[in-house]
Amino acid sequence: MNQLPPDNRRAATLLSWYDRHHRDLPWRVSPPMARRGIKADPYHVWLSEVMLQQTTVQAVKAYFAKFLALWPTVNDLAAAPVEDVMAAWAGLGYYARARNLKKCADAVATDHGGIFPDTDDGLRSLPGIGDYTSAAIAAIAFDRPAAVMDGNVERVISRLYAIDAPLPGSKPEMKARVAAMTPSERPGDFAQAMMDLGATICTPKRPSCVLCPFRDDCLALATDDPERFPVKAAKKEKPVRIGAAFVAVDSNNRVLLRRRVETGLLGGMTEVPTTGWTARLDGGDTEDHAPFDANWQPKGVVTHVFTHFELKLSVFHATDVEAPADNGWWEPVANLDAQALPTVMKKVIEQAIPDAFRKNRG
Ligand code: ADE
Repeated sequence: MNQLPPDNRRAATLLSWYDRHHRDLPWRVSPPMARRGIKADPYHVWLSEVMLQQTTVQAVKAYFAKFLALWPTVNDLAAAPVEDVMAAWAGLGYYARARNLKKCADAVATDHGGIFPDTDDGLRSLPGIGDYTSAAIAAIAFDRPAAVMDGNVERVISRLYAIDAPLPGSKPEMKARVAAMTPSERPGDFAQAMMDLGATICTPKRPSCVLCPFRDDCLALATDDPERFPVKAAKKEKPVRIGAAFVAVDSNNRVLLRRRVETGLLGGMTEVPTTGWTARLDGGDTEDHAPFDANWQPKGVVTHVFTHFELKLSVFHATDVEAPADNGWWEPVANLDAQALPTVMKKVIEQAIPDAFRKNRG
């Protein structure tokens, strides 16, 4: 879509709503803090934006606090072993983000003297930073008028203009609308205000249109059903994949763990031995596929939903195992919390050993 004329009136309306109704978030410099001269820390903005991709604000809060306690600056994160970063990330999902986070911290520390670049282009040149993240950091940390568009913003903009074309094809049109609305003053607050509006008022279901600062402008509200937007191209059904996972415990109450290969799904994360499974291929789901003989007992099936498929893992449990840990290691059950175990593996281990994780141990 060609460049649209600037739309300052809507930005002013939204900013005055944000001044009254912004969410207080741990990584955010809210309008009252900004008035006291507090500036956003680019490290905090970057860390939170990477964590918030695909993960809810509620889930991110605890991880954000943990990362800052462990690594208060980007140089501290760059100095940390990648295994420690993966272990701290465990549970947040989409683990390529954690590997890229570490690569990006290394690049900022070594190539930029520990200082984040302050432009959209400069930020996009860093590992793991794409269009969304560079725009978000440029706007929020450096007050650059970059057009920031995430799922919340897409919902707000598609309703405001009743955009009938389906996503993802309608993204350029939406981005042009957001760019036209983005003000040169307070662009960071504007971006965060759009996100807050999408998260709290312009919600996917049952939006609170009577409370919306755009209620007099919103074309979807005036002419249609706001819930119908954003229009999305029909989704393919998720395939179901099967596999088996083997929780071997030795006589010292240690669990056999191994590290997944660096590339691909859950790359570099820790797991119990499993059959192979990918987004395209099943593994075996019986005891015959165990890595070695033991008194394997079936413990039911764990289901986990990934972005492109659903996985059903049959869980087997064996105790007093004496097999050699030739491509893995034996980890005491008491240390499992500190391992880089993705959620699917925590579910598998809990299925076999119900009190394996501290939160359940009382
Ligand atoms: N979602 C992603 N980034 C966000 C931010 N900076 N504020 C609120 N919600 C967000």
